[in-house]
Amino acid sequence: MDIFDKIENYESPLGKYMKDAHGYYVFPKLEGELSNRMMFMGKERLVWSLNNYLGLGNHPEVRKADADAAAEWGLAYPMGARMMSGHTKYHEELEKQLAAFVQKESAYLLNYGYQGMVSIINALVDRRDVIVYDSEAHACIIDGMRLHFGKRYVYPHNNIENLEKELERASRIVEKTNGGILVITEGVYGMAGDLGKLREITALKKKYEFRLLVDDAHGFGTMGEKGFGTGEFLGVQDEIDVYFATFAKSMAGIGGFVASTKNVIDYLMYNLRSQVYAKSLPMPMVIGSIKRLQMLRDEPEHKAKLWTIVNALQKGLKEKGFDLGNTESPVTPVFLQGGVAEATHITKNLREEFNVFCSIVTYPVIPRGLIMLRLIPTAMHTLEDVEYTIKAFSEIKKRLDEGKYSNVGIASMVVK
Ligand SMILES: Cc1ncc(COP(=O)(O)O)c(C=O)c1O
Repeated sequence: MDIFDKIENYESPLGKYMKDAHGYYVFPKLEGELSNRMMFMGKERLVWSLNNYLGLGNHPEVRKADADAAAEWGLAYPMGARMMSGHTKYHEELEKQLAAFVQKESAYLLNYGYQGMVSIINALVDRRDVIVYDSEAHACIIDGMRLHFGKRYVYPHNNIENLEKELERASRIVEKTNGGILVITEGVYGMAGDLGKLREITALKKKYEFRLLVDDAHGFGTMGEKGFGTGEFLGVQDEIDVYFATFAKSMAGIGGFVASTKNVIDYLMYNLRSQVYAKSLPMPMVIGSIKRLQMLRDEPEHKAKLWTIVNALQKGLKEKGFDLGNTESPVTPVFLQGGVAEATHITKNLREEFNVFCSIVTYPVIPRGLIMLRLIPTAMHTLEDVEYTIKAFSEIKKRLDEGKYSNVGIASMVVK
């Protein structure tokens, strides 16, 4: 059999729609400046699908810092991996500032969050160890675990009773293997916006011996009074043994970091394979991230603006009877009843009639029969945007409730 045969016959759950959906529901092209309003298929749309939480992505000061650094250093510098020839005092400076901000002894940069997380897991555990993780873990956590030769146990999303059962199981195993236990959760779950139950999880440390790794991709910069994340918000930052965040969201850049004790970070510096064997972050991204961190840390107005929008949007939608699940973060899921066909009509109506662009999630990412429209409020949005969007959503809901989207098949993606 040819290795390419399966590609020929490829059919993912969305596969049958893939050809039509491409460019519209998936791989859409948002054009123009990063903003609350961008062009999509030649028309201006109100965009709710960028993780540019604090609005730093296109902030003039950030743009200037990026451009100045690119002019001074180019994109190539430094060449090579950190360990060999890609190390600079700027990388160290950013790490020092990140560690201080998240209240850990030490931090280390990652050239992508995803690969970084894969290697963190890989470096922390060996075959004697057991990983216990949440069922809604991000793909980078799952991929990190795929490299693990020891046991791994999953607990249903945020189900602490089940986590405890798995910890009991894991404790019995590591007693025999002489290994340890690593629990992995997220701070903010990026799809539905609910928080990992960090208080309940850390409380279990009194009963079980384990280390806690938290992926706070969506919490960093958005949660907590100072903005250093879900651990701060829930008052348990000290109990997080290994803290991870990406620059892809609030920091509006590329890269990420891991923070922990000096000992752990020293070990990770020499053992994160995706960093040891890959090129270091280029200078504009490092210097640009120092600028972003300074704004995120020292200019609370960006987070305040974000939360003004978040609160108005979530309150307004709830008042209109929308189900927002259990979000406690800026991520705003709107759950509706329906299947893929309804979802395509709803999205198309929102985009074409109301010029509202948001992401849509259907089965198999969420249970069958549910549609999730996912709104990401940011500091770039205005209260008028919120009001307009709530009106558009209310109209869509009315149509859905009246059965206007029933038995209509998949919406045509041909847009004139
Ligand atoms: C929860 C979570 N972890 C990790 C990542 C990966 O980070 P990066 O985009 O920096 O690779 C993402 C997405 O960006 C994420 O949402």
